[in-house]
Amino acid sequence: MSMNLQSLKYSNTDGSNPRLQVLDQLVLPNEKVYLDVPTVQDAYTVIRTMQIRGAPLIAIVAVLGLSVDLHTCPKTIQEYNQMDDNDQQVLSYIREKMEYLKSSRPTAVNLSNALEELDQALIKAMSKKDETTTVSTKDILKKAVLDYSEFLLERDVSDNRAIGEFGAQAILNATKKEKVNLVTICNTGSLATAGYGTALGVARSLQQRNQLESITALETRPYNQGSRLTAFEILEEQMPGGRLICDSAAAALMQTKQVDACIVGADRVCANGDTANKIGTYQLSIVAAYHKVPFFVAAPITSLDINLESGSSIPIEERSSEELISTSQAPSHMPCWNPAFDVTPACNISGIITEKGVVEPDQDGKLNVKAFVEKHT
Ligand code: MRU
Repeated sequence: MSMNLQSLKYSNTDGSNPRLQVLDQLVLPNEKVYLDVPTVQDAYTVIRTMQIRGAPLIAIVAVLGLSVDLHTCPKTIQEYNQMDDNDQQVLSYIREKMEYLKSSRPTAVNLSNALEELDQALIKAMSKKDETTTVSTKDILKKAVLDYSEFLLERDVSDNRAIGEFGAQAILNATKKEKVNLVTICNTGSLATAGYGTALGVARSLQQRNQLESITALETRPYNQGSRLTAFEILEEQMPGGRLICDSAAAALMQTKQVDACIVGADRVCANGDTANKIGTYQLSIVAAYHKVPFFVAAPITSLDINLESGSSIPIEERSSEELISTSQAPSHMPCWNPAFDVTPACNISGIITEKGVVEPDQDGKLNVKAFVEKHT
């Protein structure tokens, strides 16, 4: 895997001095600029403005940003040190920052899942506090945030490698081919994660097995994650048969039999398998169903949300008209509807590939994501 494609740079020199920089994805592919993320406000801004994006990366940057803020931001350190060492007060101070980060983007569940996991880690760390200890609650919680953020960073890459392996096998089984032609949407590679990628990681694993014939990326309007980011990764990784098409060419691609399987990422997968992903994914799934092309979703278990029964309850982020107008030739005052995501119904999905295996349709054709999560967590 090319190290040129690091979505973030993280260091922690003496164990309590974390530093975070993120690759500014808004100036790719022309420039590679790393931005410092010294505070929670900066973490919120890089997520909200889509300087970083992709469900897993959003969660990782939020949690690392919180740790950096608590350990190195002078204003935060001053406020923190001035507080009484009261368990509830310290916990509330950190939780307020977590709530702020959670409000940055609504659709991907990885962020709220990570913050929920972190909250559990904080409660656990406090409950372990021995009455005779001289270590303050403030220090215990700061350390718990740092430990969890580093754990999340490491877990992401190892999970993605496992997704890659399960996904490669699932696609080879479904297509019964030695070498496959894939199509993908949005960006799901190193730039959307801490490394390796989810759906693009599956293509990477097929490439490593010499079983990838070609990979076609959809441009992914209006934010152009496909042309701006996936195309960049495909070239950087020298993926065989890499090419870009505009979103409206997907049906023609399948009609002319240039594709064996679709592989896409996810921002949230519901208990029944309905999946929210980048706008255009639903359309791609309909085209795939019509042409009987297998359609796979690749996502870590942290993207699965079994608290939501079906896709109709997923909050779909709407972005500004300006964003659509500035990336098109539209008149500047044209009213727009600009949803960032759509929901692909479970019936259009051949399997959901995770780091623990693949959720496949049962004998009734249903994707029982709930049972899968309960078994593996
Ligand atoms: O709006 P974005 O760019 O954050 O949306 C990203 C996607 O929809 C990805 O396909 C998804 O998050 C999977 S990332 C591995």
